[in-house]
Amino acid sequence: MKIGIIGAGNIGGNLTRRLTALGHDVSVANSRGPHTLKELAEETGATPVRIEEAARGAEVVVIAVPEKALENLPTGLLDGAAEGVAVIDTGNYYPKQRDGKILAIEVEGLTESRWTERAVGRPVIKAFNGTYAQDILERPRPAGAPDRIALPVAGDDEAAKAVVRSLIDELGFDTVDAGGLDDSWRQQPDTPVYGLRGNVAEVTKALAEASPERKPEWRA
Ligand SMILES: NC(=O)c1ccc[n+]([C@@H]2O[C@H](COP(=O)([O-])OP(=O)(O)OC[C@H]3O[C@@H](n4cnc5c(N)ncnc54)[C@H](OP(=O)(O)O)[C@@H]3O)[C@@H](O)[C@H]2O)c1
Repeated sequence: MKIGIIGAGNIGGNLTRRLTALGHDVSVANSRGPHTLKELAEETGATPVRIEEAARGAEVVVIAVPEKALENLPTGLLDGAAEGVAVIDTGNYYPKQRDGKILAIEVEGLTESRWTERAVGRPVIKAFNGTYAQDILERPRPAGAPDRIALPVAGDDEAAKAVVRSLIDELGFDTVDAGGLDDSWRQQPDTPVYGLRGNVAEVTKALAEASPERKPEWRA
């Protein structure tokens, strides 16, 4: 599959490593430009590109930049993507540590991924946000393995969600359908499923036990 990855840090870098290893055609971009991605490109065979080129022709685009950077992404970023592109949002809002105050989340009450959706101008599928970046390299297991962990996946576009779930299965993880994007608060930071290394039953239970309250520690 042709995959564009925007952000080449902990999560974008490791997804680049695993997706290229699986034979996908990966383009990857960061904020500083392709010349700074030479090492990652040599290691993985991914194509380093300018951010404006990252989504070109892509069937899947991964957004793996800090929440505060979303507003700085170029407009029309996803215009050149393949029809029906599945856009994966890996992001989390860390108001105190990193992102500052995002009014759409704190005042309007949008889920973090609705905010991403607004910023990139396309529907998104929320996945990987509660997964330790290192686990993407170290925890893949074949289907049916007793210690295979499951990742929650939320989004409104069922076709795109199916593409993402199938890709995650290929990466070595089970998935749990976590509902539409308005339900995706159930997998945001500070919920029981966030960072949980659980199987399908454990992830399903954790999603059900989540509270929609945004505690003061998670406000700017
Ligand atoms: N770390 C984890 O284990 C983990 C797990 C799940 C989800 N997440 C979430 O995933 C997101 C990314 O986290 P991370 O840990 O991967 O961050 P990170 O290591 O700091 O990497 C961020 C990447 O985004 C790029 N970037 C920043 N602003 C950009 C812009 N305006 N245009 C293009 N690229 C830009 C950076 O480019 P430069 O390299 O050029 O600065 C860098 O490659 C966050 O929302 C985080 O909460 C993280």
